[in-house]
Amino acid sequence: MTQPIAEGESVILLDVEDGKEFFYRMREKGHINLHKGKILHTEIIGKPEGTVVRTSRGNPFLVFRPTLTQYIMHMKRDTSIIYPKDLAFILLYADIHPGCTVLEAGIGSGSLTLALLRAVGTEGRVISYERREEFIERAKKNIQLFMGEPPNLEIKQRDIYEGIEETGLDRIILDVPEPWRVIPNAAEVLRLGGIFVGYLPTIIQVKSLVDALREEKRFSSIEVFEVLFRNWNIEGLSVRPFHQMVGHTGFLTLGRKGEAP
Ligand SMILES: C[S@@+](CC[C@H](N)C(=O)[O-])C[C@H]1O[C@@H](n2cnc3c(N)ncnc32)[C@H](O)[C@@H]1O
Repeated sequence: MTQPIAEGESVILLDVEDGKEFFYRMREKGHINLHKGKILHTEIIGKPEGTVVRTSRGNPFLVFRPTLTQYIMHMKRDTSIIYPKDLAFILLYADIHPGCTVLEAGIGSGSLTLALLRAVGTEGRVISYERREEFIERAKKNIQLFMGEPPNLEIKQRDIYEGIEETGLDRIILDVPEPWRVIPNAAEVLRLGGIFVGYLPTIIQVKSLVDALREEKRFSSIEVFEVLFRNWNIEGLSVRPFHQMVGHTGFLTLGRKGEAP
């Protein structure tokens, strides 16, 4: 996208001097108060991303549209979310591709949904089951602010444990507490060759899920892993990992549907 930044868009302001990031939504009459001075939104609206703007005290800030990773880390959340480090692995290991039909539950704050919508493209479809209306509203808002109203997203206020209405699904991705309850149904509604993914915070839950996948003879290639991600500091002689990192998020469990041997 090469258009200038418009009113209503989100931007990242990057402090050129210390690399700190700030996230704002542009409004005609808005202003930003930073400890280094003030910037009016009208000084940003109409400029291309990558522009340098200066605070009232003359400090330089770069203006960028947020990447999906930045957007997810800054968007409002009412639930825990799937972090970008795990999203990256879900997209590749579950082989989410343009044209794919993916069913997910629950939508939560919409982090996974955003990543899926990007990956399946306009030819693909994302169906999302979520039990709670307030989370549907939160996720819709987050999605709308990043990519408008995607016509290929269908959100259903439904309990996934009560059954999946769709059939012939390419992928099922669950971020709910008891995904093992869905396995018999998932085996029916996934197409042959389809992939199931469970995202769970504790290994006790993972054990129940793997047991259920094994018991349902149609799942093979069952694997479990977690993603450890560590930033590094590269400044002068201080060339070392960051002191702090996200220690644990969740485990990924994958299985592929085939015919029962
Ligand atoms: C951890 S949040 C999901 C976060 C989401 N994946 C994201 O990345 O933003 C779990 C969600 O699952 C929903 N949920 C829990 N059990 C469910 C069920 N049986 N059917 C549908 N949604 C359910 C909860 O209401 C909550 O919104």
